[in-house]
Amino acid sequence: MNIAIVGSGYVGLVTGVCLAHIGHQVICCDNNEEKIKALRAGRIPIYEPGLEDLLVKYVKSGGITFSHSIRDASKKAEVIFIAVGTPSKKNGDADLTYIENVAREVALSMDSYKLLVEKSTVPAQTGDRIARTIRLNLPKKNKKGNAAVPEFDVASNPEFLREGSAVHDFMNPDRIVIGVESKRAERLLREIYKPLNATMVVTNLATAEMIKHASNSFLATKISFINSVAQICERVGADVEKVAEGMGYDKRIGRSFLNAGIGYGGSCFPKDVDAFVCLAEKSGYDFKILKSVREVNESQKAWFTRHIEDKLWIIKDKTIAVWGLAFKSNTDDMRSAASLTVIEALRGEGAHIQAYDPQAMANARKMIKGIRFCSDAYAAVKGADCLLLLTEWDEFKKADFVKTRDLMRQAVVFDGRNFLDSKALGELGFEYYGIGRGGNA
Ligand code: UGA
Repeated sequence: MNIAIVGSGYVGLVTGVCLAHIGHQVICCDNNEEKIKALRAGRIPIYEPGLEDLLVKYVKSGGITFSHSIRDASKKAEVIFIAVGTPSKKNGDADLTYIENVAREVALSMDSYKLLVEKSTVPAQTGDRIARTIRLNLPKKNKKGNAAVPEFDVASNPEFLREGSAVHDFMNPDRIVIGVESKRAERLLREIYKPLNATMVVTNLATAEMIKHASNSFLATKISFINSVAQICERVGADVEKVAEGMGYDKRIGRSFLNAGIGYGGSCFPKDVDAFVCLAEKSGYDFKILKSVREVNESQKAWFTRHIEDKLWIIKDKTIAVWGLAFKSNTDDMRSAASLTVIEALRGEGAHIQAYDPQAMANARKMIKGIRFCSDAYAAVKGADCLLLLTEWDEFKKADFVKTRDLMRQAVVFDGRNFLDSKALGELGFEYYGIGRGGNA
């Protein structure tokens, strides 16, 4: 099938490359000409395991092409996925300017049936607004001067891809949700995803939009819940890791997304939780649970910093090593990373920060000023009074901790992800502090 993807960020690019991989002819579109140039040469501007290899393969075979013109891309396709950014406004609401622009551009050049599919996370009822924008901007007459205008459909097909494992998630979905208002749209979307042989959930547009809101917000709720439990564990001498294990065997609960830590970050959860609270407010409902989820997430980062202050005693002029800056492992993404808040607070207290991340250094340099970026994990711990583990990269688990200990001034570790082997570190003489691990597991 001929498919256009408008917006070549994380979501658009992964979707485009993977759709080419399952046999479709894809044209990806972005208004950033530099990006398009790089993509044509088979280079991706982000770190996402497995993506570049597939891109190179399908650029070579011609399965994927690029354009910086929405009109050009949409003319070549029957199905158009909208994967442009939906940043947060100051009030937490999603800014849908780019979505409106895509709808208008597609409408202006529409000369045959088109199916527009929302891929970006958007507030419920956005589908209706896209349809209205298209109706208002459709050519009034076709070339022969007749009043006939092309038909179109709008559908919602939310993505559930995690950065760092997006290609795997696309190819092995737990389910594919499609929100449609016509049989034709349903048929087209079923056809597109047929090669994946996945469970399909077919709903109307608004329901599919709500599934995305509810899924991300529920996962964020699980994280804030376990972080709250971790706070109590810390005080009563329990170990949150074991609590999560004990809860997780219950199939109704499940173990995933019960990892206590320094709070969730990234480009999705913080923004999506805000947008859902906003949507609820607009519809006249006070979404108290979700407001608390957000508060707990913020307070978790603040607590972590206070905890360091408490154990380290004096922060001013202490050298603090940071391992991991990205909002999670296997990505170079720094958006709403917990490291930003933690580093900012400690710098404010006069600490000297020495940081290292395997992939996110370039992005981090643009966002964090006044710290030392180090070439590797060992350079970061040299002369340090403590080490903060902020992102769970495998590389850190495999580090040589004898060497690490000997390079540090004080062998103190604050593990913001409960990721390191606390027992082994203890045996090496480290003072180890995890999250919710009975004070000092
Ligand atoms: C999330 C969802 O998992 C995807 O299904 C969804 O498609 C995506 O948002 C989106 O809406 O685009 P992502 O933000 O890439 O994916 O990353 P996650 O793996 O969900 O992690 C989000 C944050 O929660 C990270 O900061 C992570 O460290 C944190 N987290 C996750 C925890 O603190 N504890 C956990 O147990 C799990």
